[in-house]
Amino acid sequence: MTPKNLLVTGGAGFIGRNMIRGLLDDGHTVTSVDNFKIGGRRHIPGDLRDHVEWLEGDTRDLPLLTELMKGRDAVVHLAAPSSFLMYEEDPVDGASVTVHGFLNVLETMRRADVGKLVYASTSAVYEGNPVPYSETMGLRPPDLKALSKKWNEEVARQYAERYGLVALGLRPFSVYGHDEFSKGGYANVISLFAWAVLNGVTPVVWGDGSQTRDFIYVEDAGRAFRTALEADLPTHEFNVGTGIETSFNDILAMIGEEVGSLLEREYVDVPIAIYAQRLWADVDRASRVLGFRHEIDVREGVRRVVAAARRAQESGQWPALKDAQMYFESLPAS
Ligand SMILES: NC(=O)c1ccc[n+]([C@@H]2O[C@H](COP(=O)([O-])OP(=O)(O)OC[C@H]3O[C@@H](n4cnc5c(N)ncnc54)[C@H](O)[C@@H]3O)[C@@H](O)[C@H]2O)c1
Repeated sequence: MTPKNLLVTGGAGFIGRNMIRGLLDDGHTVTSVDNFKIGGRRHIPGDLRDHVEWLEGDTRDLPLLTELMKGRDAVVHLAAPSSFLMYEEDPVDGASVTVHGFLNVLETMRRADVGKLVYASTSAVYEGNPVPYSETMGLRPPDLKALSKKWNEEVARQYAERYGLVALGLRPFSVYGHDEFSKGGYANVISLFAWAVLNGVTPVVWGDGSQTRDFIYVEDAGRAFRTALEADLPTHEFNVGTGIETSFNDILAMIGEEVGSLLEREYVDVPIAIYAQRLWADVDRASRVLGFRHEIDVREGVRRVVAAARRAQESGQWPALKDAQMYFESLPAS
């Protein structure tokens, strides 16, 4: 593989950090631009700190992106609100980052003649469709997060058709993992449940806990982006999931096995109007065309999340988790 000079937006985030580690192993040079709105610089792992150019900046800053695009071989675009709750709390900022930031990336790529983009869409674009979600389905997103990401996909195709750049859009399902502390209360339900339990707080479950998600480990998700970067494929979108659904009750049982006790839990009515009961990915296309398959199953992933939370507890990182805890108590996990 030929080493590339890469720009990563949102590189300091959860998926970004884990993806960048692999990009460095692959021999690439990486510059990250991140506004550090979520988490901040202190979450950049020690082993990555000196090997990446970590810039503070916002994707909505066109002159900055114009400057950063010079001499790049490819771009991975991750900078966007990652949680449905972020869009609920600030819809204007959420849509502004997702739409305006993405257009800036495409336009500065076009001007600088950068030919390859891999970007994060979301499985939420499928909302309202029957499961499993397949790339062949029509999309009619019912909320702003999903609609903004669908717009990303459409404008990426337009740029591909008009200007010849290649844009691979990845639709991650429910990404979780060991170092999600940077996301606090916006973290995946697996982290929120694990942190609650280790903090002596009763996990709150929406509905009866039988709802399912396709949980994909963050290292697998990062590898999907790296695979797309190397792939010699035309513009398209791909699911990033495992093809397996797991219920919230099963997740709680797995966490219970890790901590060695049966877990208390509190079931509450689902407090939002749009809420999927079952979710999982059809991974056939990603597997056949992109060549991506997950490697870490959810049982192993849960073990790693609990182990990492225990290490954080022991090393005094607990205050950050306490913030998440307060959030968790005020807003039941989704
Ligand atoms: N985590 C998931 O389960 C999931 C699922 C589907 C899609 N995605 C998408 O994947 C991407 C990465 O998600 P993540 O889980 O790593 O989230 P994250 O919040 O950990 O990372 C996003 C990063 O982008 C940065 N950022 C936000 N707005 C920015 C801006 N305007 N300019 C520069 N930086 C900005 C944040 O500070 C953060 O470091 C997002 O686009 C998200 O929508 C994530």
